[in-house]
Amino acid sequence: WVIMVTAQTPTNIAVIKYWGKRDEKLILPVNDSISVTLDPVHLCTTTTVAVSPSFAQDRMWLNGKEISLSGGRYQNCLREIRARACDVEDKERGIKISKKDWEKLHVHIASYNNFPTAAGLASSAAGFACLVFALAKLMNAKEDHSELSAIARQGSGSACRSLFGGFVKWKMGKVEDGSDSLAVQVVDEKHWDDLVIIIAVVSSRQKETSSTTGMRETVETSLLLQHRAKEIVPKRIVQMEESIKNRNFASFAHLTCADSNQFHAVCMDTCPPIFYMNDTSHRIISCVEKWNRSVGTPQVAYTFDAGPNAVLIAHNRKAAAQLLQKLLFYFPPNSDTELNSYVLGDKSI
Ligand code: DP6
Repeated sequence: WVIMVTAQTPTNIAVIKYWGKRDEKLILPVNDSISVTLDPVHLCTTTTVAVSPSFAQDRMWLNGKEISLSGGRYQNCLREIRARACDVEDKERGIKISKKDWEKLHVHIASYNNFPTAAGLASSAAGFACLVFALAKLMNAKEDHSELSAIARQGSGSACRSLFGGFVKWKMGKVEDGSDSLAVQVVDEKHWDDLVIIIAVVSSRQKETSSTTGMRETVETSLLLQHRAKEIVPKRIVQMEESIKNRNFASFAHLTCADSNQFHAVCMDTCPPIFYMNDTSHRIISCVEKWNRSVGTPQVAYTFDAGPNAVLIAHNRKAAAQLLQKLLFYFPPNSDTELNSYVLGDKSI
C-alpha cells in the first residue's frame, strides 16, 4: 500500500526584509520581518509526499530530478515532523500506522515549482513551507500553523512566513532553542484585497550569491547591518503593522521601498560587496519613484529580494494598469533590456 498527500503553498515577498542570522543551525534571524503571501496560483510549490512499507529510504525529486536529502535543512524538517507524528488509520483500506511505526517508515517526496528556482523569487520559501505542511498532514501531526512555521524555518528562514496568507510577521524570538522564532498572521488575505502585485522578471537565471552565503558574509562584515537590526527594523516593524492594519498605502509604500533599498545598501556594505540588482532593476526604481512623485501620492511600491527581479505592489487596479502600461513602454518585451515577462499576482493578498 501507499498513502499520499498533496499540498500547494504560495511564495511570500518580504516588505520588511530578513537578512542575517544570529544562529545558522537553527536559522534564527537578527530581526523581525514582515511579508505578503502571493496568490497560490501564480508562484507556488506543489508537493506530494508518499509513505509505503516498500520504500527503502527517504527520497526526493525537485522539478522531476532526484536531489539529495542528506543536507541538514531537509533532515531537520523530516526529523521534527517525525517526532510529532501521530496514529494514522485508513479504515476502508485496512491500513493502520501507529505513532511508533513512523520511525521505521520512509517517505518519497515530489515537489514542483511553477517559477524559476533560486532566481530571487523566493522558491525556497514556498518549497520548505509546502514540504513541512504536506509531511504534517501525512503523519497526522497536530501542530497549528505557527508551530509548523517554526519547523519550516529550519528548512529556510523565509519559509516560515508562507504557512499563512495575507500579511505575515516572523517574530525573531528570544530563547536559545528557537521555539519562539515563528510566524504569525498580521491580517488575512481579505483585509487589503485591492492591492495588486506585479513581478517584473528581469532575469530568471540562478543568482550568483545564494541568500544563505550572502547573509553570512553580511553578518561577518557589515556594521550597517548591526545598526539596521538594532535601531531601524524594530521601529519599522511597528510602523509597517500600523500601515497594513489601517490600509495606509502612502506609509506602506514608503516603508517597503525604504526597507528594500536599505537591504541592498547592507549588501553593498558587505565585504566583498554583493550586487543583487542590475541596471534594469535600477531603471525600474527610477521609473516608479518619478511617477510617484509626479502624482503626489504613491501609487506603487517596489521591493527586490536577492536577485534583480522587481516586485511591484500597486495601490489598486487602476494604478496597476497604469504601471503595466509604463513598464511596457519603457521596457518593451524583446528589447535590449533583459526584462521580458511579467507575472501578475492579482488577487494575491
Ligand atoms: C532577501 O530564507 O532564502 O528574500 O534562511 O538561508 O534559507 P535562508 O535564506 P532565505 O532568505 C531570504 C532573504 C530575502 C528576504 C526575505 O525574504 O525576508
